[in-house]
Amino acid sequence: MENTVFYMVNLVKVKQSLERLRVSINRHNYLYHVLNIPEISDAEYDALMRELKQLEAAYPQFVVLDSPTQRVGAAPVKAFGVINHSLPLLSLNNAFSKEELLAWYSRISKILDGQQFNFVCEHKIDGLAVALTYVNGQLTTGATRGDGSRGEDITQNLKTIRSIPLSVSGDAPPRFEVRGEVFLPKDGFNRLNRERAENGLPLFANPRNAAAGSVRQLDPRITAKRPLDIYIYMLGYAEGKVIPQTHWETLEYLQSFGFKVSPKNKLLDSITKVEDFYHIWLERRKSLPYETDGIVVKINQLGLQEILGNVGHEPRWAIAYKFPPVQGTTTLREIRVSVGRTGTLNPYAVLESVSIGGVTIRQAALHNEDDIRRKDIREGDTVIIQRAGEVIPQIIGPVLAKRSGKEKEFNLSEKLYNSSKKRPACPVCESEIIKTEAEVMYYCPNVACPAQIKQRLEHFASRGAMDIRGIGKSMSALLIERGLVGNFSDLYCLKDKKNELLSLEGMAEKSTTNMIDAIEKSKKQPLARVVYALGIRHVGTETAEILTKEFGSLETLANALKEQFSSIPTIGPKIADSVTAFFDNEENIWIIEKLRKAGVQSEKKVAKPKGQLLSGQEFVITGRLDRFTRHAAEVQIKALGGITRSDVTGKTKYLVTGADPGSKLKRARALGIKQLTEDEFRRLLEKQHRFT
Ligand code: IVH
Repeated sequence: MENTVFYMVNLVKVKQSLERLRVSINRHNYLYHVLNIPEISDAEYDALMRELKQLEAAYPQFVVLDSPTQRVGAAPVKAFGVINHSLPLLSLNNAFSKEELLAWYSRISKILDGQQFNFVCEHKIDGLAVALTYVNGQLTTGATRGDGSRGEDITQNLKTIRSIPLSVSGDAPPRFEVRGEVFLPKDGFNRLNRERAENGLPLFANPRNAAAGSVRQLDPRITAKRPLDIYIYMLGYAEGKVIPQTHWETLEYLQSFGFKVSPKNKLLDSITKVEDFYHIWLERRKSLPYETDGIVVKINQLGLQEILGNVGHEPRWAIAYKFPPVQGTTTLREIRVSVGRTGTLNPYAVLESVSIGGVTIRQAALHNEDDIRRKDIREGDTVIIQRAGEVIPQIIGPVLAKRSGKEKEFNLSEKLYNSSKKRPACPVCESEIIKTEAEVMYYCPNVACPAQIKQRLEHFASRGAMDIRGIGKSMSALLIERGLVGNFSDLYCLKDKKNELLSLEGMAEKSTTNMIDAIEKSKKQPLARVVYALGIRHVGTETAEILTKEFGSLETLANALKEQFSSIPTIGPKIADSVTAFFDNEENIWIIEKLRKAGVQSEKKVAKPKGQLLSGQEFVITGRLDRFTRHAAEVQIKALGGITRSDVTGKTKYLVTGADPGSKLKRARALGIKQLTEDEFRRLLEKQHRFT
């Protein structure tokens, strides 16, 4: 009896802890993703999430639909369901010039016949429109625009976007729908395309396609990995509450519930000010973190919007005033090939210089041979170039009408044919080139290729990696050319070579000291950055984080077997191959050892998760578990510091035995290893959690 009471009290406490954690995580999410003013570090945030996950895993009965853990991406959906929009999602009429904007203004002024109105001006972000429905404060459905009346149900995917609240406060209308633009910021877009190029996947033409491709993933876990964001730009409908009378107040109202509304929106009282707004952002749009193709001008008074109504699928009360395109055409003189950090041979276009949107463009990325073929881009072609803000200029495709017949199709191995070697060779070190397993990209296999060494050093020191100020492209090249650095681990010996550094062009006492200080400081970078800095093929920042979380130290990572990588759901065979190959290479091991000896972080520095009471204990699972998937059970063991193995050995501490156990049970019996039934296993986990 006493026990039951104790247990109940304990459950109440658990519920309270869960609630506290959820409120706190939601608040930090909001501060970070909506307001951009984080109060805690990423590591502290991760620790809160870890705590919540552990507690929810132990008490699955208390998991709620709007828990922040539910953002990580549920299991893949088979296909998207259809959602009928209660009110159609409209598109916008466009104005491409001042005259067209003024014509719109005079049309509506006439209809409104002297009634006073003002405007709300917003950026027209290039992403995709979504409608989010909230019932009793909970996000229930999220849909694409589709044909305007029927969209796709992408709720699970949208839930992974952290700036979309999963629930809103009690003051919100009992049922309402908001609309907004989901987008991929420019740097996320560039990173995604770089990774796709490396993996030989077709590239996204622009951030809009990339955003649409990301939210329409059948597997929400993929969506969760893309840095998508949202701005809410209108209220679709609301039931059961009186709502504001103007668009501006509606946006403020929505913001008060935690929705992310653009801080760039402006309430303006004349069409001249609307024009000024347009010109300001035409100038400044390069500096925006997202792609815009114009501004949206909306009549502020909702009553007047109603009077103005729609023309077909377009409201009369709003107009998109478009920026001129940042496209142009020029001649593609030649396709050349450069050597990337991991030895990839990257074709790029040398162009007849052309000014697009005020920037002179002479080169454009071409990514890989397949992409060039798919777009049928030939040397000598007139090509369409698109520049999107900071984004590297892209070649959209050839202007077929301008073909003379003299254009030359591109063939990489022909281009790299080395007449003295009588075969295609690396343009820098002349090693024989090879093609990857997937047959999309050629590589220079020579890890000592000077081009690769320079770029590996540059990557190691780069911002997202070890962040060593003062070592960029030209300094990396200089350090290698002068023999001061043979590979990036030599950076940590530079403090003993101050005089040699001082003799380099452009280096003075101060810059040398700064550089040495920056190198020393980089030793404190967290392990995930070190893993990323190593420059393992296909290992970007996300994968580096995952590997760090799973393995915890460079040593464990280097000794891991290929199967251990493959068993991580987010790690595909390509990554598993390249990570294994990297650590199979003696030279790499030697470099890592040098880094470790120099004092570079080689272990994940975490406040030991509470309840590490399974620390070092090895578990093997056999048979079918009823209340856990195999993966969930493994995650929980690892979360408590335990280790999971696939085979029973003398080191095995426990064999967790589900229904229909296999031969492992026999072996465990023979070795006298302790078995746990599923219930016993659950109790063991609970006990550990309660300890925390
Ligand atoms: S209002 C009834 N506001 O533009 C008004 N749309 O061409 C319809 N868009 O499908 C939308 N930023 O995807 C509105 N601030 C903004 C917008 C915006 C981007 C997109 C939206 C819509 C398309 C219409």
